[in-house]
Amino acid sequence: MSNSTVHRHHILHRSHIKKGHIHHGSSPIEKNPILQIFKGNEITPQIVSDASTLFSNHYGIWGSKGPKPGSRIRMNSARLREQILPKNLEGNCTCVRILIQEEVVGHAFACSWKTGDEGNTVCWIAQLVVHSEFRGQRLSLRLLEALKEPRFTCYGILSSHPYACLAAIRSFAGCDMANYDPGDTAQYKRTILESSPIPYIRDAEFNNDTIQKGNDSIKEETCSAFTRFYVDHGEPQEALRSVQGRGVIWKLGTLKEGHEHLVIVPQPFVREPSK
Ligand SMILES: CC(C)(COP(=O)(O)OP(=O)(O)OC[C@H]1O[C@@H](n2cnc3c(N)ncnc32)[C@H](O)[C@@H]1OP(=O)(O)O)[C@@H](O)C(=O)NCCC(=O)NCCS
Repeated sequence: MSNSTVHRHHILHRSHIKKGHIHHGSSPIEKNPILQIFKGNEITPQIVSDASTLFSNHYGIWGSKGPKPGSRIRMNSARLREQILPKNLEGNCTCVRILIQEEVVGHAFACSWKTGDEGNTVCWIAQLVVHSEFRGQRLSLRLLEALKEPRFTCYGILSSHPYACLAAIRSFAGCDMANYDPGDTAQYKRTILESSPIPYIRDAEFNNDTIQKGNDSIKEETCSAFTRFYVDHGEPQEALRSVQGRGVIWKLGTLKEGHEHLVIVPQPFVREPSK
């Protein structure tokens, strides 16, 4: 581990994790969690292996159209690297993780690339996982917050999980779903997805519908894309019911099999793509 990495370790004091507000996991955070940030070649094989373990034990299960319906989705280190740390782009990748008592309980991987002709740089959340025992304690929000950099003019995520979408909206748009404008996703998705160096993002299929910014009555599929990732939607649907049970009006539509929600959040200083 390089010295620069060591300097970027932070103790997440409990006051930084809003306790009591949304705790639903079975392991409240009693010990000080440690936040670590690794960039480019600081992302060692051990870090990738730890990520593979967390993902394989806690991400989700295959849906009926997946390769192993009902089985846990697993990803070994090589596959994980291939999926989210693309060759020749390692220098643009960041891994943020949270450890509790030396165990990795959450990680986020992001990859950035230039998009459009206007010098914009998008930071894409390629993977976000929190250990099932530690969910509902705003760890995902902490992970996303740690990825933010002034050079990024836009953030994006594809995810079937409503909590991941809410965390991205909270972190990158600085608001809740009620105040989020899905028009931004409709406006920027083509430019950003088509410019992605990550194949599964570049190849995602989406409806080319456009909506007026500030118009919440979007078409069902405006904020989703067909990524052919057949994760079981049972847990995300249950999560959606929990969100709606709190009175949240869900603006990202319902998901078909193999689709994921799409959230794109330009930063206030983003330059509009040329027409
Ligand atoms: C998605 C995931 C990372 C969320 O992690 P988490 O640390 O539990 O999430 P947080 O506690 O930070 O909460 C994020 C948002 O979800 C909401 N949320 C969390 N648990 C909730 C619950 N039980 N009911 C309603 N809302 C809930 C939070 O209120 C927050 O939204 P807000 O800021 O608008 O209030 C986690 O559920 C996970 O790892 N899921 C499996 C993997 C996955 O699907 N990852 C995303 C795809 S890349």
